Amino acid sequence: MSVTSVIGLQWGDEAKGKIVDLLTPEHDIVVRYQGGNNAGHTVQFRGETYKMSLLPTGILHPHCKAVVATGMVVNPKALLEELDDIVRRSGPVDNRLLISNRAHVVFPYHMEEEAVLEKRRQDEAIGTTMRGIGTCYRDKAGRTHGIRIGDLYYPETLRQRLRDIVTYKNTILQALDPDFQPLDADAIFDEYSGYAERMQPYVGDTTAFLLDALDQGKRILFEGAQGSLLDIDHGTFPYVTSSNSSGCGIHNGSGVPERAITRMIGVIKAYTTRVGGGPFPTELHDEIGQHIRDVGREYGTVTGRPRRCGWFDAVACRYSARLSGIDAIAVMLLDVLSQLDELCICEAYEIDGRRTTDFPAHVHELAKAKPVYRTLPGWKRDISHARKLDDLPAEARSYLETISQLVGAPITIVSVGPDREQTVMI
Ligand code: IMP
Repeated sequence: MSVTSVIGLQWGDEAKGKIVDLLTPEHDIVVRYQGGNNAGHTVQFRGETYKMSLLPTGILHPHCKAVVATGMVVNPKALLEELDDIVRRSGPVDNRLLISNRAHVVFPYHMEEEAVLEKRRQDEAIGTTMRGIGTCYRDKAGRTHGIRIGDLYYPETLRQRLRDIVTYKNTILQALDPDFQPLDADAIFDEYSGYAERMQPYVGDTTAFLLDALDQGKRILFEGAQGSLLDIDHGTFPYVTSSNSSGCGIHNGSGVPERAITRMIGVIKAYTTRVGGGPFPTELHDEIGQHIRDVGREYGTVTGRPRRCGWFDAVACRYSARLSGIDAIAVMLLDVLSQLDELCICEAYEIDGRRTTDFPAHVHELAKAKPVYRTLPGWKRDISHARKLDDLPAEARSYLETISQLVGAPITIVSVGPDREQTVMI
Protein backbone atom coordinates (compact mmCIF):
# COMPACT_ATOMS: atom_id res chain seq x y z
CA MET A 1 0.00 0.00 0.00
CA SER A 2 1.33 3.42 -0.86
CA VAL A 3 0.36 6.48 1.15
CA THR A 4 2.66 9.28 0.10
CA SER A 5 2.98 12.86 1.35
CA VAL A 6 4.57 15.73 -0.50
CA ILE A 7 5.64 18.50 1.87
CA GLY A 8 7.44 21.79 1.18
CA LEU A 9 10.46 22.20 3.44
CA GLN A 10 11.00 25.93 2.91
CA TRP A 11 8.70 28.98 2.85
CA GLY A 12 6.43 27.63 0.11
CA ASP A 13 6.67 27.78 -3.68
CA GLU A 14 9.05 24.79 -3.81
CA ALA A 15 7.38 23.58 -7.04
CA LYS A 16 5.56 20.79 -5.20
CA GLY A 17 2.98 20.75 -8.01
CA LYS A 18 5.42 19.09 -10.40
CA ILE A 19 6.23 16.32 -7.90
CA VAL A 20 2.56 15.74 -7.14
CA ASP A 21 1.90 15.61 -10.86
CA LEU A 22 4.69 13.04 -11.37
CA LEU A 23 3.40 10.86 -8.54
CA THR A 24 -0.33 11.09 -9.32
CA PRO A 25 -0.39 8.27 -11.93
CA GLU A 26 0.65 5.81 -9.21
CA HIS A 27 -2.09 6.92 -6.78
CA ASP A 28 -5.89 6.58 -6.67
CA ILE A 29 -6.70 9.60 -4.53
CA VAL A 30 -5.02 13.01 -4.16
CA VAL A 31 -5.83 15.03 -1.04
CA ARG A 32 -5.45 18.69 -0.06
CA TYR A 33 -5.85 19.01 3.70
CA GLN A 34 -4.78 22.52 4.81
CA GLY A 35 -4.78 26.08 3.55
CA GLY A 36 -7.05 27.45 0.88
CA ASN A 37 -6.68 29.59 -2.19
CA ASN A 38 -3.58 31.25 -0.75
CA ALA A 39 -1.79 28.35 -2.44
CA GLY A 40 -1.24 28.40 -6.14
CA HIS A 41 0.54 26.31 -8.65
CA THR A 42 0.67 26.06 -12.34
CA VAL A 43 0.28 22.59 -13.79
CA GLN A 44 0.86 21.50 -17.37
CA PHE A 45 -1.54 18.76 -18.41
CA ARG A 46 -2.03 17.43 -21.94
CA GLY A 47 -0.54 20.57 -23.45
CA GLU A 48 -2.74 22.91 -21.41
CA THR A 49 -1.74 25.16 -18.52
CA TYR A 50 -3.95 25.08 -15.42
CA LYS A 51 -3.70 27.41 -12.44
CA MET A 52 -4.72 25.45 -9.35
CA SER A 53 -5.39 27.05 -5.98
CA LEU A 54 -7.93 25.00 -4.07
CA LEU A 55 -8.47 21.79 -5.95
CA PRO A 56 -5.93 18.96 -5.69
CA THR A 57 -4.03 18.57 -8.95
CA GLY A 58 -5.27 14.96 -9.10
CA ILE A 59 -8.57 16.33 -10.44
CA LEU A 60 -6.89 16.59 -13.86
CA HIS A 61 -6.22 12.83 -13.98
CA PRO A 62 -9.31 10.84 -15.03
CA HIS A 63 -8.38 7.77 -12.94
CA CYS A 64 -7.97 9.79 -9.77
CA LYS A 65 -10.29 11.08 -7.04
CA ALA A 66 -9.61 14.54 -5.63
CA VAL A 67 -10.37 15.35 -2.00
CA VAL A 68 -10.69 18.77 -0.38
CA ALA A 69 -10.34 17.59 3.21
CA THR A 70 -11.45 18.83 6.61
CA GLY A 71 -8.49 21.07 7.45
CA MET A 72 -8.97 23.37 4.47
CA VAL A 73 -10.65 26.76 4.36
CA VAL A 74 -12.75 27.00 1.23
CA ASN A 75 -13.78 30.09 -0.68
CA PRO A 76 -16.70 28.57 -2.63
CA LYS A 77 -16.64 31.24 -5.34
CA ALA A 78 -12.94 30.55 -6.04
CA LEU A 79 -13.48 26.78 -5.91
CA LEU A 80 -16.37 26.87 -8.38
CA GLU A 81 -14.45 29.14 -10.77
CA GLU A 82 -11.54 26.70 -10.72
CA LEU A 83 -13.87 23.75 -11.20
CA ASP A 84 -15.74 25.44 -14.07
CA ASP A 85 -12.47 26.10 -15.86
CA ILE A 86 -11.40 22.45 -15.53
CA VAL A 87 -14.81 21.12 -16.66
CA ARG A 88 -14.86 23.49 -19.64
CA ARG A 89 -11.41 22.42 -20.78
CA SER A 90 -11.24 18.75 -19.87
CA GLY A 91 -14.79 17.50 -19.27
CA PRO A 92 -16.98 16.72 -16.23
CA VAL A 93 -15.41 15.54 -12.98
CA ASP A 94 -18.58 13.65 -11.91
CA ASN A 95 -17.95 11.66 -8.75
CA ARG A 96 -14.19 12.28 -8.75
CA LEU A 97 -14.35 15.34 -6.47
CA LEU A 98 -15.19 15.19 -2.77
CA ILE A 99 -15.36 18.30 -0.57
CA SER A 100 -15.40 17.95 3.21
CA ASN A 101 -18.56 19.03 4.99
CA ARG A 102 -16.25 19.84 7.94
CA ALA A 103 -14.04 22.30 6.04
CA HIS A 104 -14.57 25.94 6.96
CA VAL A 105 -16.00 28.55 4.61
CA VAL A 106 -14.25 31.81 3.68
CA PHE A 107 -16.74 34.72 3.54
CA PRO A 108 -16.27 38.25 2.17
CA TYR A 109 -15.87 39.62 5.71
CA HIS A 110 -12.75 37.48 6.13
CA MET A 111 -11.05 39.31 3.27
CA GLU A 112 -12.28 42.71 4.53
CA GLU A 113 -11.06 41.99 8.05
CA GLU A 114 -7.67 40.87 6.82
CA ALA A 115 -7.26 44.03 4.71
CA VAL A 116 -7.98 46.23 7.76
CA LEU A 117 -5.64 44.25 10.03
CA GLU A 118 -2.77 44.19 7.55
CA LYS A 119 -3.13 47.93 6.87
CA ARG A 120 -2.95 48.69 10.59
CA ARG A 121 0.23 46.64 11.06
CA GLN A 122 2.02 48.83 8.49
CA ASP A 123 5.75 47.95 8.55
CA GLU A 124 5.03 44.83 10.57
CA ALA A 125 2.42 43.50 8.14
CA ILE A 126 2.62 39.73 7.64
CA GLY A 127 2.35 40.29 3.90
CA THR A 128 -0.50 37.81 3.49
CA THR A 129 -2.11 36.79 0.21
CA MET A 130 -5.31 38.69 1.23
CA ARG A 131 -7.49 35.64 0.64
CA GLY A 132 -9.10 35.69 4.10
CA ILE A 133 -7.21 32.59 5.17
CA GLY A 134 -5.97 33.70 8.60
CA THR A 135 -9.24 35.41 9.52
CA CYS A 136 -11.25 32.32 8.54
CA TYR A 137 -8.98 30.02 10.58
CA ARG A 138 -9.32 32.47 13.47
CA ASP A 139 -13.10 32.19 13.35
CA LYS A 140 -12.73 28.40 13.25
CA ALA A 141 -10.54 28.41 16.37
CA GLY A 142 -12.84 30.98 18.03
CA ARG A 143 -15.87 28.77 17.21
CA THR A 144 -18.60 31.42 17.64
CA HIS A 145 -18.17 32.76 14.10
CA GLY A 146 -16.95 29.68 12.27
CA ILE A 147 -19.18 28.29 9.51
CA ARG A 148 -18.46 24.89 7.99
CA ILE A 149 -19.45 23.71 4.54
CA GLY A 150 -22.04 21.39 6.10
CA ASP A 151 -23.69 24.43 7.79
CA LEU A 152 -24.53 25.87 4.37
CA TYR A 153 -27.26 23.22 4.07
CA TYR A 154 -29.21 24.47 7.12
CA PRO A 155 -30.54 27.71 5.59
CA GLU A 156 -32.65 29.00 8.47
CA THR A 157 -29.86 28.71 11.03
CA LEU A 158 -27.33 29.98 8.51
CA ARG A 159 -29.29 33.15 7.72
CA GLN A 160 -29.54 34.07 11.41
CA ARG A 161 -25.90 33.24 12.12
CA LEU A 162 -24.73 35.35 9.20
CA ARG A 163 -26.81 38.28 10.47
CA ASP A 164 -25.18 38.01 13.92
CA ILE A 165 -21.69 37.62 12.54
CA VAL A 166 -21.97 40.42 9.98
CA THR A 167 -23.36 42.82 12.62
CA TYR A 168 -20.34 42.04 14.79
CA LYS A 169 -17.81 42.37 11.96
CA ASN A 170 -19.36 45.59 10.64
CA THR A 171 -19.22 47.16 14.11
CA ILE A 172 -15.58 46.29 14.68
CA LEU A 173 -14.35 47.08 11.18
CA GLN A 174 -16.14 50.45 11.03
CA ALA A 175 -14.59 51.37 14.38
CA LEU A 176 -11.12 50.46 13.11
CA ASP A 177 -11.36 51.91 9.62
CA PRO A 178 -13.60 54.87 8.73
CA ASP A 179 -13.42 53.90 5.04
CA PHE A 180 -14.90 50.46 5.66
CA GLN A 181 -18.19 49.89 3.78
CA PRO A 182 -20.56 47.74 5.88
CA LEU A 183 -21.52 44.35 4.48
CA ASP A 184 -25.07 43.07 3.95
CA ALA A 185 -25.72 39.70 5.64
CA ASP A 186 -28.74 38.81 3.54
CA ALA A 187 -26.89 39.48 0.29
CA ILE A 188 -24.09 37.17 1.50
CA PHE A 189 -26.67 34.55 2.45
CA ASP A 190 -28.21 34.66 -1.04
CA GLU A 191 -24.83 34.49 -2.77
CA TYR A 192 -23.56 31.59 -0.64
CA SER A 193 -26.84 29.65 -0.95
CA GLY A 194 -26.22 29.63 -4.69
CA TYR A 195 -22.68 28.31 -4.19
CA ALA A 196 -23.94 25.69 -1.71
CA GLU A 197 -26.42 24.37 -4.25
CA ARG A 198 -23.74 24.07 -6.92
CA MET A 199 -21.27 22.35 -4.58
CA GLN A 200 -23.81 19.94 -3.09
CA PRO A 201 -23.09 16.95 -5.39
CA TYR A 202 -19.48 16.97 -4.19
CA VAL A 203 -19.96 17.61 -0.45
CA GLY A 204 -19.60 14.75 2.01
CA ASP A 205 -17.64 13.18 4.87
CA THR A 206 -14.10 13.03 3.51
CA THR A 207 -12.68 11.54 6.73
CA ALA A 208 -14.94 8.49 6.43
CA PHE A 209 -14.14 8.28 2.72
CA LEU A 210 -10.37 8.32 3.32
CA LEU A 211 -10.49 5.83 6.19
CA ASP A 212 -12.55 3.44 4.04
CA ALA A 213 -10.10 3.97 1.17
CA LEU A 214 -7.24 3.00 3.49
CA ASP A 215 -9.08 -0.17 4.51
CA GLN A 216 -9.53 -1.00 0.82
CA GLY A 217 -5.79 -0.57 0.19
CA LYS A 218 -6.23 2.46 -2.05
CA ARG A 219 -3.13 4.49 -2.85
CA ILE A 220 -3.37 7.99 -1.40
CA LEU A 221 -1.25 11.07 -2.12
CA PHE A 222 -1.29 14.02 0.27
CA GLU A 223 -0.53 17.33 -1.37
CA GLY A 224 0.85 19.84 1.15
CA ALA A 225 0.40 23.54 0.43
CA GLN A 226 2.80 26.33 1.46
CA GLY A 227 5.96 25.16 3.23
CA SER A 228 6.99 23.87 6.65
CA LEU A 229 8.59 27.18 7.69
CA LEU A 230 5.15 28.81 7.28
CA ASP A 231 3.56 26.31 9.71
CA ILE A 232 1.43 28.10 12.31
CA ASP A 233 3.03 26.18 15.21
CA HIS A 234 6.48 25.28 13.95
CA GLY A 235 7.23 28.06 11.46
CA THR A 236 8.57 31.59 11.80
CA PHE A 237 5.59 32.89 13.78
CA PRO A 238 3.92 35.37 13.30
CA TYR A 239 5.20 35.46 9.70
CA VAL A 240 3.48 32.21 8.86
CA THR A 241 0.24 31.00 7.38
CA SER A 242 -2.60 29.92 9.68
CA SER A 243 -2.52 26.18 9.14
CA ASN A 244 -0.10 23.33 9.85
CA SER A 245 1.76 23.39 6.56
CA SER A 246 4.51 20.99 7.72
CA GLY A 247 3.91 17.24 7.79
CA CYS A 248 2.33 17.82 11.20
CA GLY A 249 -0.88 18.94 9.47
CA ILE A 250 -1.68 15.74 7.59
CA HIS A 251 -3.30 13.88 10.43
CA ASN A 252 -5.46 16.70 11.80
CA GLY A 253 -6.28 18.07 8.35
CA SER A 254 -7.40 14.78 6.82
CA GLY A 255 -8.32 12.43 9.66
CA VAL A 256 -5.88 9.83 8.33
CA PRO A 257 -3.61 8.51 11.10
CA GLU A 258 0.03 9.44 10.73
CA ARG A 259 1.18 5.81 10.91
CA ALA A 260 -0.67 5.14 7.64
CA ILE A 261 1.86 7.25 5.73
CA THR A 262 4.47 5.08 4.05
CA ARG A 263 6.54 7.74 2.27
CA MET A 264 7.25 11.38 3.19
CA ILE A 265 8.83 13.37 0.39
CA GLY A 266 10.26 16.77 1.31
CA VAL A 267 10.45 19.23 -1.57
CA ILE A 268 13.12 21.95 -1.66
CA LYS A 269 14.33 24.45 -4.17
CA ALA A 270 18.05 24.38 -4.88
CA TYR A 271 18.04 27.88 -3.35
CA THR A 272 15.59 29.69 -1.05
CA THR A 273 12.67 32.03 -1.67
CA ARG A 274 10.15 33.73 0.54
CA VAL A 275 7.10 35.92 -0.17
CA GLY A 276 5.80 38.37 2.41
CA GLY A 277 7.44 39.56 5.64
CA GLY A 278 9.65 37.86 8.21
CA PRO A 279 13.33 37.07 8.71
CA PHE A 280 15.25 35.28 5.96
CA PRO A 281 18.91 34.76 6.96
CA THR A 282 20.28 33.83 3.52
CA GLU A 283 18.41 36.52 1.56
CA LEU A 284 20.45 38.14 -1.22
CA HIS A 285 19.88 41.84 -1.90
CA ASP A 286 22.45 41.94 -4.69
CA GLU A 287 22.64 41.07 -8.37
CA ILE A 288 22.86 37.32 -7.60
CA GLY A 289 19.46 37.53 -5.86
CA GLN A 290 18.06 39.38 -8.88
CA HIS A 291 19.64 36.82 -11.23
CA ILE A 292 17.92 33.95 -9.36
CA ARG A 293 14.60 35.88 -9.43
CA ASP A 294 14.88 36.46 -13.18
CA VAL A 295 16.07 33.01 -14.21
CA GLY A 296 13.74 31.19 -11.80
CA ARG A 297 10.81 33.50 -12.69
CA GLU A 298 10.33 34.03 -8.98
CA TYR A 299 7.08 35.97 -8.92
CA GLY A 300 4.06 34.78 -6.89
CA THR A 301 1.45 32.61 -8.66
CA VAL A 302 -1.36 34.01 -6.51
CA THR A 303 -0.37 37.65 -5.98
CA GLY A 304 2.31 38.25 -8.65
CA ARG A 305 4.63 39.69 -5.96
CA PRO A 306 8.38 39.37 -6.60
CA ARG A 307 9.72 36.65 -4.33
CA ARG A 308 12.67 37.35 -2.03
CA CYS A 309 15.57 35.12 -3.14
CA GLY A 310 18.66 33.75 -1.37
CA TRP A 311 21.13 30.91 -0.96
CA PHE A 312 20.10 27.43 0.13
CA ASP A 313 19.62 27.29 3.90
CA ALA A 314 20.48 23.82 5.21
CA VAL A 315 19.85 24.79 8.84
CA ALA A 316 16.23 25.66 8.08
CA CYS A 317 15.71 22.61 5.84
CA ARG A 318 17.28 20.16 8.28
CA TYR A 319 14.86 21.47 10.90
CA SER A 320 11.81 21.09 8.67
CA ALA A 321 12.93 17.69 7.33
CA ARG A 322 13.22 16.35 10.88
CA LEU A 323 9.90 17.91 11.86
CA SER A 324 8.04 16.13 9.08
CA GLY A 325 10.01 12.86 9.28
CA ILE A 326 11.15 13.15 5.67
CA ASP A 327 12.57 10.00 4.10
CA ALA A 328 13.37 11.41 0.65
CA ILE A 329 14.14 14.82 -0.81
CA ALA A 330 13.14 16.25 -4.19
CA VAL A 331 15.42 19.12 -5.28
CA MET A 332 13.71 21.53 -7.66
CA LEU A 333 14.96 24.22 -10.04
CA LEU A 334 18.60 23.10 -9.95
CA ASP A 335 18.98 24.46 -13.51
CA VAL A 336 18.34 28.02 -12.23
CA LEU A 337 21.80 28.00 -10.60
CA SER A 338 23.63 26.94 -13.76
CA GLN A 339 25.19 30.29 -14.69
CA LEU A 340 26.78 31.09 -11.34
CA ASP A 341 30.56 30.85 -10.71
CA GLU A 342 30.22 29.85 -7.09
CA LEU A 343 27.37 28.67 -4.91
CA CYS A 344 26.89 29.08 -1.18
CA ILE A 345 25.06 26.76 1.20
CA CYS A 346 24.28 27.95 4.70
CA GLU A 347 25.49 25.18 7.04
CA ALA A 348 25.16 26.99 10.37
CA TYR A 349 24.01 30.26 11.91
CA GLU A 350 25.98 32.58 14.09
CA ILE A 351 23.69 34.18 16.66
CA ASP A 352 25.22 36.64 19.17
CA GLY A 353 28.67 35.23 18.38
CA ARG A 354 27.57 31.62 18.98
CA ARG A 355 27.57 29.08 16.16
CA THR A 356 24.57 26.78 15.94
CA THR A 357 22.86 24.36 13.57
CA ASP A 358 19.58 24.61 15.49
CA PHE A 359 16.78 26.62 13.91
CA PRO A 360 15.65 29.25 16.45
CA ALA A 361 12.11 29.09 17.82
CA HIS A 362 11.69 32.85 17.88
CA VAL A 363 11.81 35.31 14.98
CA HIS A 364 13.85 37.81 17.02
CA GLU A 365 16.61 35.20 17.25
CA LEU A 366 16.28 34.26 13.59
CA ALA A 367 16.51 37.95 12.63
CA LYS A 368 19.94 38.04 14.33
CA ALA A 369 21.19 34.87 12.61
CA LYS A 370 24.20 35.41 10.35
CA PRO A 371 24.63 32.58 7.85
CA VAL A 372 27.85 30.58 7.94
CA TYR A 373 28.43 29.54 4.35
CA ARG A 374 30.15 26.62 2.68
CA THR A 375 31.22 27.74 -0.80
CA LEU A 376 31.10 25.29 -3.68
CA PRO A 377 32.11 25.67 -7.33
CA GLY A 378 29.34 26.26 -9.87
CA TRP A 379 29.02 24.24 -13.10
CA LYS A 380 28.32 26.96 -15.70
CA ARG A 381 26.77 24.47 -18.05
CA ASP A 382 23.24 23.83 -19.28
CA ILE A 383 21.86 20.90 -17.26
CA SER A 384 18.27 21.03 -18.51
CA HIS A 385 18.83 17.91 -20.66
CA ALA A 386 20.07 15.75 -17.76
CA ARG A 387 17.90 12.65 -17.21
CA LYS A 388 20.13 10.60 -14.93
CA LEU A 389 22.57 11.44 -12.17
CA ASP A 390 25.61 10.80 -14.36
CA ASP A 391 24.37 13.42 -16.86
CA LEU A 392 24.96 16.10 -14.23
CA PRO A 393 28.38 17.78 -13.97
CA ALA A 394 30.50 16.70 -10.99
CA GLU A 395 30.02 20.15 -9.40
CA ALA A 396 26.23 19.78 -9.51
CA ARG A 397 26.44 16.30 -7.99
CA SER A 398 28.69 17.61 -5.27
CA TYR A 399 26.21 20.44 -4.59
CA LEU A 400 23.42 17.86 -4.22
CA GLU A 401 25.52 15.59 -2.00
CA THR A 402 26.27 18.50 0.33
CA ILE A 403 22.56 19.34 0.59
CA SER A 404 21.66 15.72 1.28
CA GLN A 405 24.33 15.37 3.93
CA LEU A 406 23.44 18.64 5.71
CA VAL A 407 19.67 18.14 5.56
CA GLY A 408 19.97 14.50 6.56
CA ALA A 409 17.97 12.59 3.95
CA PRO A 410 18.66 11.06 0.53
CA ILE A 411 17.82 12.97 -2.63
CA THR A 412 15.67 10.81 -4.91
CA ILE A 413 14.36 13.35 -7.43
CA VAL A 414 16.12 16.30 -9.09
CA SER A 415 14.23 18.68 -11.34
CA VAL A 416 16.18 20.48 -14.07
CA GLY A 417 13.31 22.25 -15.86
CA PRO A 418 9.55 22.74 -15.77
CA ASP A 419 8.59 19.85 -18.05
CA ARG A 420 7.80 16.42 -16.68
CA GLU A 421 10.65 14.86 -18.67
CA GLN A 422 13.17 17.31 -17.21
CA THR A 423 13.56 15.15 -14.16
CA VAL A 424 16.37 13.00 -12.80
CA MET A 425 15.10 10.03 -10.78
CA ILE A 426 17.77 8.59 -8.48
P1 IMP B 1 -1.69 33.85 4.22
O1 IMP B 1 -1.54 32.37 4.09
O2 IMP B 1 -2.38 34.48 3.05
O3 IMP B 1 -2.29 34.24 5.54
O4 IMP B 1 -0.22 34.50 4.21
C1 IMP B 1 0.69 34.31 5.29
C2 IMP B 1 2.13 34.18 4.77
O5 IMP B 1 2.24 32.96 4.05
C3 IMP B 1 2.56 35.29 3.81
O6 IMP B 1 3.94 35.52 4.00
C4 IMP B 1 2.33 34.66 2.45
O7 IMP B 1 3.15 35.25 1.46
C5 IMP B 1 2.72 33.23 2.74
N1 IMP B 1 2.05 32.28 1.84
C6 IMP B 1 0.78 31.86 1.87
N2 IMP B 1 0.54 30.96 0.90
C7 IMP B 1 1.70 30.78 0.25
C8 IMP B 1 2.10 29.94 -0.84
O8 IMP B 1 1.34 29.15 -1.40
N3 IMP B 1 3.41 30.06 -1.22
C9 IMP B 1 4.28 30.89 -0.59
N4 IMP B 1 3.96 31.67 0.43
C10 IMP B 1 2.67 31.63 0.85
